[in-house]
Amino acid sequence: MLYRLARAGFFQLDAEKAHELAIQNFKRFTGTPLDLFYRQHLPDRPVECMGLTFKNPVGLAAGLDKNGECIDAFGAMGFGFVEVGTVTPRAQPGNDKPRLFRLIPAEGIINRMGFNNEGVDHLVENVKKSNFDGIIGINIGKNKDTPIEKGVDDYLICMDKVYPHAGYIAVNISSPNTPGLRTLQYGEALDELLAALKVRQAQLATQHSKYVPLALKIAPDSTDEELKQICQSLLKNKIDGVIATNTTLDRSVVEGMKNANEAGGLSGRPLQSRSTEVIKCLYKELGDEIPIIGVGGIDSFVAAKEKLMAGAKLVQVYSGFIYHGPKLVSNIVKNL
Ligand SMILES: Cc1cc2nc3c(=O)[nH]c(=O)nc-3n(C[C@H](O)[C@H](O)[C@H](O)COP(=O)(O)O)c2cc1C
Repeated sequence: MLYRLARAGFFQLDAEKAHELAIQNFKRFTGTPLDLFYRQHLPDRPVECMGLTFKNPVGLAAGLDKNGECIDAFGAMGFGFVEVGTVTPRAQPGNDKPRLFRLIPAEGIINRMGFNNEGVDHLVENVKKSNFDGIIGINIGKNKDTPIEKGVDDYLICMDKVYPHAGYIAVNISSPNTPGLRTLQYGEALDELLAALKVRQAQLATQHSKYVPLALKIAPDSTDEELKQICQSLLKNKIDGVIATNTTLDRSVVEGMKNANEAGGLSGRPLQSRSTEVIKCLYKELGDEIPIIGVGGIDSFVAAKEKLMAGAKLVQVYSGFIYHGPKLVSNIVKNL
C-alpha cells in the first residue's frame, strides 16, 4: 500500500529523476528510524552457491545501485545479496539524457544509460562503509573510450581493485549500451577474456588468501548455438557462475507501445520468458557444474520459481522491484 502511494508519486517524475530521488532517500533514511518505510524481517532461506552461503536466493540486480551508495538500505529490505555496479576503471557520465523510459502497461523499462558511474575507487570506498551482512557482488565493465581490443585491461584493473571487497565479481560483457561490448561474448575474444580473468583470479586468491568467484553476465539475444559455445568456454575456463540475462534488444513483445522504439535494452515483464528460455538452454549444457543466477522479468513468486525450476540457483530483480517495491522480495522469500 505504502509503496503503491510512493510509486504513484515517483511515476509522475521523469524516470531518471525518480531513480535519483529514490537513491537519495535510501541514503538519507538508512540507519535512522525512517528506514521502517522499507525494512522487512524475512526468514532465512539459505542457499549454497559458488562456494558462498546466501541467506536467501533473492538478489538485487546490477545497475540500480551503480556506485554502491545504498547497499545497507537494500539489505534492510531483505535481499540476500546485492550486486553493485556496473563500475568502470574511470568515472564516466554515460549517454545523453533522456536515457531511461518506462513502458508502464507492460511493466517494462528501456535504458541506454551507458555505464554512468563514479569509477571503481569511489565504489570500493562505499562498499567498505557498508554494514550489510549478506553478500555483495561487484559488477565490472569497461570504459566507453577504451578500445574493445583493450577491454580485457579494464576488467583486470577493476578486478584488482574490487577483489578484496567482493563476495563475488560479475563480469558484464552483455550491456547493449557500450558499443562493441557484446562482441566479447563470442569465439576467441571470450576465451581470451575468461582465461585472463582466471589467471588473475588465481594470483589475487594467493595474494589475499581468499577465493572470490567470478560470474559472467550474458545477454538474452544469442542463438542456442551461440549459448552452447558460451557454455563450452565457461566450462573450459572453469568460471564459477553465469548470470542470465541482461536486457534485450528485441522489441517484438512491446511493439506499438509508448516508448517501445527508444534505443537501448528492454527489461521487465517483456523479458521474462526469453530469459527463462536462456536459463533452460544454459542448464542443459552446464547441469550442476556451473551455477546459474536467473534474472529477467521477475515480478512475483511464481516468476521467480519459474527461473529456479529452469535451473537457476539464485535470482535477481530490477524492473520488478521498480514496479512492485520491497514487497516483491518478501513475497518471493516467504513463499520459498
Ligand atoms: C536502468 C537499468 C540499468 C541497468 N544497468 C545495468 C548495469 O549497469 N549492469 C548490468 O550488468 N546490468 C544492468 N541492468 C540490467 C539488469 O541488471 C537486469 O539484468 C535486467 O534489467 C533484467 O532484469 P529485470 O527484468 O528484473 O530488470 C540495468 C537495467 C536497468 C533497467
